[in-house]
Amino acid sequence: MVLESVWWAPAEDGRPAGVGYVDQRAIPHEIRRERAERIDEIVETIATLAVRGAPAIGIFGAYGVALARELHPDDDAAYRTAAARIRGARPTAVNLAWGVDRVLAADASPLDEARAIHDEQRAVDRAIGEHGASLMPERGAVLTHCNTGPLATGGSGTALGAIFAAHAAGKRLHVYVDETRPLLQGARLTTFELAQGGVPATLIADGAAAATMRAKNVVAVIVGADRIARNGDTANKIGTYAVAIAAAHHGIPFYVAAPRSTIDFDLRDGNGIEIEERSAGELRAVAGVRTAPDDAAVYNPAFDVTPGRLIAGIVTEYGVARPPYDESIPDLATRPAFGLLPR
Ligand code: MRU
Repeated sequence: MVLESVWWAPAEDGRPAGVGYVDQRAIPHEIRRERAERIDEIVETIATLAVRGAPAIGIFGAYGVALARELHPDDDAAYRTAAARIRGARPTAVNLAWGVDRVLAADASPLDEARAIHDEQRAVDRAIGEHGASLMPERGAVLTHCNTGPLATGGSGTALGAIFAAHAAGKRLHVYVDETRPLLQGARLTTFELAQGGVPATLIADGAAAATMRAKNVVAVIVGADRIARNGDTANKIGTYAVAIAAAHHGIPFYVAAPRSTIDFDLRDGNGIEIEERSAGELRAVAGVRTAPDDAAVYNPAFDVTPGRLIAGIVTEYGVARPPYDESIPDLATRPAFGLLPR
């Protein structure tokens, strides 16, 4: 069973239209379905990570712009101001800006365009899953970081989609899941989704990743991405860079799986990627329980940038891009829109 993470919620029973979502903060304790009916709520849902994961916030943001049009049918200035607020809710995942901009620029109605983005993501995820599965071993241990499954994408997942597709094809994988401090997307969401999909998995502390590579004979690492530069430098959840360094030390291939919409073709390298810094409170407490002095100084970047030279392959809906990324990534910009490709 795949949980739909975001959806358009039409006006009904006296309620206005809105954007529906599963509140990812409540998982695994509860599957809480909510609905944002105001632009403030759209922005807050993204900023608080109730909806998170680069493709999912792209789709949610796109539906948010459709909601803005419903709220301001005759006021273009208010519509555009609302769209700009949604676009700025989080800075690192380029999918959010991409989704908002695409709806704003579309000839189709905002809602039709948002629905098209969502439909395309489902098809894109299936393709990423198939290409990524081909990189997975016939059997053995693989490691992942953060959460890249259906909750994070609105489809079937990217890196986790590749693991699911490999499992479905009969590959016997065991997944080691980094807990992913500070917000525990790995512990809360990835272990939940892998259990739902029947894929054997073991949760590890982030600090155990290198030791696990050695002790458990990890043969591949696969993660998602929030923004990829033209040279392959990849922003992803904080801790990914350390995993890539550990994988390089152990001679383990480190793969990134992400849709083309996660590539920022305007960026030459990762130095230009804005890294979101989040509140000190996220590090001074775990699940609401204080774990550090109130006044402890905190540095809390939500993402880091893994240099392209540490990445063995970048899986998109078009296949596996290989180094030199300076050549293979710009080539992806020239491909026709995925939905238009002959199958
Ligand atoms: O802060 P988050 O939870 O939105 O960060 C998510 C990640 O870093 C994911 O790995 C990335 O968005 C890819 S989701 C398919």
